[in-house]
Amino acid sequence: MKVIFLGSPGAGKGTQAAVLRERYGLAHISTGDILRENVRNGTTLGKTAREYMDSGRLVPDEVIIAMMEERLQKPDCQKGFILDGFPRTVPQAEALDALLDRMGISLDGVILFEVPGDLVLDRLTGRRVCGKCGEIYNVHFKKTKVPGVCDLCGGELVQRDDDREEIVIKRLEVYEEQTAPLIRYYEDKGQLVRVDAGQEGELVVAAIERAVGQ
Ligand code: AP5
Repeated sequence: MKVIFLGSPGAGKGTQAAVLRERYGLAHISTGDILRENVRNGTTLGKTAREYMDSGRLVPDEVIIAMMEERLQKPDCQKGFILDGFPRTVPQAEALDALLDRMGISLDGVILFEVPGDLVLDRLTGRRVCGKCGEIYNVHFKKTKVPGVCDLCGGELVQRDDDREEIVIKRLEVYEEQTAPLIRYYEDKGQLVRVDAGQEGELVVAAIERAVGQ
């Protein structure tokens, strides 16, 4: 399975990617996760990315493209991969097309996560993430047994800096302006498959599996 997950912030891309990664042994490549790890580790990339991420803007294309060219060539991608949060602009999509061509890889599909806007706001402001293992929870939709403590590893739950309401609103605007044009881009290439991501998680996963013929 070699797929792109496309959809607004909070559409459920990371949540469903985690399920499919476990089920099929895929590489789950989340540009957001890679950038956050670099911010935590204080790398040069992290220092550049932080100011963009904290204000809800996109990190410059050239930075992301260089990062992904390196990541996609790692051996764990050979069994299949989910690109979560990349590409996010038309120049990123064009660079990805060129890279996949050079590598002789064709995509199985681009999954568009469709979800109503009001649901997205509740999902994002209610999201909590385990600071230790990265498991994703939600104070409205996926509660832990003990408040604030990860069910899987006992780690402490944290709220992402960019999940504050004012930043969420900016991220949704940026999505409409810079990422939504990719819907047309992949529709024109005959690669887009729409999935109702407003339904319960397992149903979303099943719809994705049907879409890519699993
Ligand atoms: P990134 O980390 O990619 O954030 P995002 O795209 O905004 O996506 P999210 O992680 O917010 O949403 P998601 O769809 O994964 O939702 P989730 O599954 O967690 O990017 C962060 C920043 O990094 C960007 O703003 C930018 O600055 C930078 N960046 C990243 N990639 C870049 C790129 N390519 N170019 C430039 N800059 C880049 O779910 C959300 C919540 O909903 C969770 O609490 C979950 O439990 C709940 N939920 C999920 N599914 C369901 C369901 N079916 N039912 C009920 N609840 C659900």
